[in-house]
Amino acid sequence: MSKLSLIDQFHIWRRKNRWNRQYKKGRWEYLKNDVEAPRYAKIVKAIKHHSKANPSILDLGAGEGVLRLRLDEEAIGYFLGVDFSKVSIKSATKCNFNNADFQVADLHYYTPPQEFDVIVFNEAFYYINDAVRAKVLKRILGKLKQGGILINSIYKEGVGCWEYFDNPELEQLDFTTVKTKKEGTYWKVGVYRKL
Ligand SMILES: C[S@@+](CC[C@H](N)C(=O)[O-])C[C@H]1O[C@@H](n2cnc3c(N)ncnc32)[C@H](O)[C@@H]1O
Repeated sequence: MSKLSLIDQFHIWRRKNRWNRQYKKGRWEYLKNDVEAPRYAKIVKAIKHHSKANPSILDLGAGEGVLRLRLDEEAIGYFLGVDFSKVSIKSATKCNFNNADFQVADLHYYTPPQEFDVIVFNEAFYYINDAVRAKVLKRILGKLKQGGILINSIYKEGVGCWEYFDNPELEQLDFTTVKTKKEGTYWKVGVYRKL
């Protein structure tokens, strides 16, 4: 199956409203704290190490723009953050980052407006309905430059997600478990080059 049913679409809409409510209440403020920091640090390092200098970066499921906050401004060519929560995008936009845009869009239907050097799913891929995960990834890969870098971060094991990255269009460059000082809290981060 590679289509969303009406019920799926309804659930996605409901989930979007829930994210908006949670962002309004400040529920995701903790993403800026020290426990989460190693995950962003790993992504920042992967971009620095594997990508060309001053890359254009697409952050999918960007939330309030925490990844942009963690990146060295001088090292970015252009940054686009996309999230279906208008509340989180409003908050990211308020930061007035240089050379960055934020856009409200649902990843289930989203086609990036241009090709990017780096595309990041930072704790977002598992929210894509499994009926269309392959289709969404294919569409996104269509907007990653040849030789460009794809980074996927997933909390804990990411059951039902990683198999999509075992993909003939991608070469795996790195796969790391990022641990934190909080017991039981870890992420897996995969870094891939588009062939
Ligand atoms: C755990 S938060 C991570 C936020 C951000 N990537 C970070 O790590 O700082 C997951 C984000 O994915 C977004 N999201 C979930 N489903 C989405 C979808 N279908 N389209 C776009 N964004 C989505 C949520 O609104 C939320 O901001």
